[in-house]
Amino acid sequence: MKKKLYIGGNWVETSEYYELRSPYSQEVIAEVPLADKTHVEEAIRAASENVHVMRTMPAHERADILLRVATLLEENLEEAVRILVLENAKPIKAARAEIGRTVQTYRFASEEAKRLYGETIPMDAAIGSEEKFGFTVREPLGVIAAITPFNFPYNLAAHKLGPAIAAGNTIVLKPASQTPLSSLFIAELFEKAGLPKGVLNVITGSGAVIGDLLVTDERVKMVTFTGSLEVGQRIKKLAGLKRVTLELGSNSPVIIDKVQDLDRAVNKCVMGSFAYSGQVCISVQRIYVHEDIYDAFLEKFTQVAQTLKIGDPLNEGTDISALIHPNEITRIQEWIEEAESEGATKVLGGDLFNETILSPTILTNVPHHVSLCTLEAFAPVVFVNKFKDIDEAIKDANNSQYGLQAGIFTDSIQTALKAVKEIESGGINVNDVPTFRVDHMPYGGVKNSGTGKEGIKYSTEEMTEIKFISFSS
Ligand code: SIN
Repeated sequence: MKKKLYIGGNWVETSEYYELRSPYSQEVIAEVPLADKTHVEEAIRAASENVHVMRTMPAHERADILLRVATLLEENLEEAVRILVLENAKPIKAARAEIGRTVQTYRFASEEAKRLYGETIPMDAAIGSEEKFGFTVREPLGVIAAITPFNFPYNLAAHKLGPAIAAGNTIVLKPASQTPLSSLFIAELFEKAGLPKGVLNVITGSGAVIGDLLVTDERVKMVTFTGSLEVGQRIKKLAGLKRVTLELGSNSPVIIDKVQDLDRAVNKCVMGSFAYSGQVCISVQRIYVHEDIYDAFLEKFTQVAQTLKIGDPLNEGTDISALIHPNEITRIQEWIEEAESEGATKVLGGDLFNETILSPTILTNVPHHVSLCTLEAFAPVVFVNKFKDIDEAIKDANNSQYGLQAGIFTDSIQTALKAVKEIESGGINVNDVPTFRVDHMPYGGVKNSGTGKEGIKYSTEEMTEIKFISFSS
């Protein structure tokens, strides 16, 4: 029940704790340490003192450790799932899927540890260096601070720990204060997998206290963060010359052109809009449907959304459960009311299943200037608007401060190619929702969705420095 920090390979008690409550039942599920300034300092020191351990560890050993973590996680899957369901109310089916992905993510990282290639440089391309021989190698950066969100606490931590270790770095991990248990559990697995002491450090508590200390400390060479735009902007401001990767969410659009297979598009959109109650950075928030199929789409979409099972995340059948905090319900209900007052129509939901769960909600005719369109909803709320032609749809899709992933359903290759070319986002899924993601593909946004790429190969490379070497004969 009473958890400990993980610093320098030791499990450390603190003087202050906070009560962690299940978002679904609101019962206390653990007492979690509130790290103070001294703990942050100790964690950075441990990571810093062990930089040489990782720099000199051969790639095959780093790969083996990551593979053992993947295996241990697979062997302890049900315990990992139970922790996840309790701490973030992810319905158990989705929680199993997240752990399955996390196992793969650590496997991808294990593979990337052995693929950190340099390149030879054709030195004779420059007049005067014909006799030289030049090449690059990739070196680890040193200490990496990883700050992770509540929504995929295993897999999005794996997207930071896996590449950091693959590239030979050390880490201080600060998980979201609502989801520390999964990170402490993963630290246990790394310990069992033989990761040297001090390479991974996990500090829990208030982001406001820990975040700034991590971001401003000179020994920390990179900050990798997934979370809100506001915090991301603060990190970028404070980080100075440190490398920074920021994954900051979106209000992802999907365009439904005149497609033959409407059912497929509908089913994908229901999953993309309501999986984990929309608390996904690439959740479908804005659906733009061609006017010729608009009524048929809306009718089927509403019908299928009504079949989703709402309730206890521990029930095998549950699709929709609690939002991470009751305050989020208040916020999103205000956004719904704002949209309605500006002319939108609610066609489904908007009501509370109980005090922690908002039922799946669909609106139509949402104007572009309201919060539900301009900001990230992170809730089971989506709108379906109409378009006349593809230019209008692309213009609507691009009418956003964000650009993480987008989707388009179309039977026309020309339309698909036009959308691929013109939609401003880090990734575009043709004939799928923006919510589609597997863990080796590049992932990261443009505009206010962030900077830098994840996806194991890409983040592993971002966690290295290219060193150039030349030889003269
Ligand atoms: C995210 O919410 O940023 C991650 C989504 C995913 O990995 O599926």
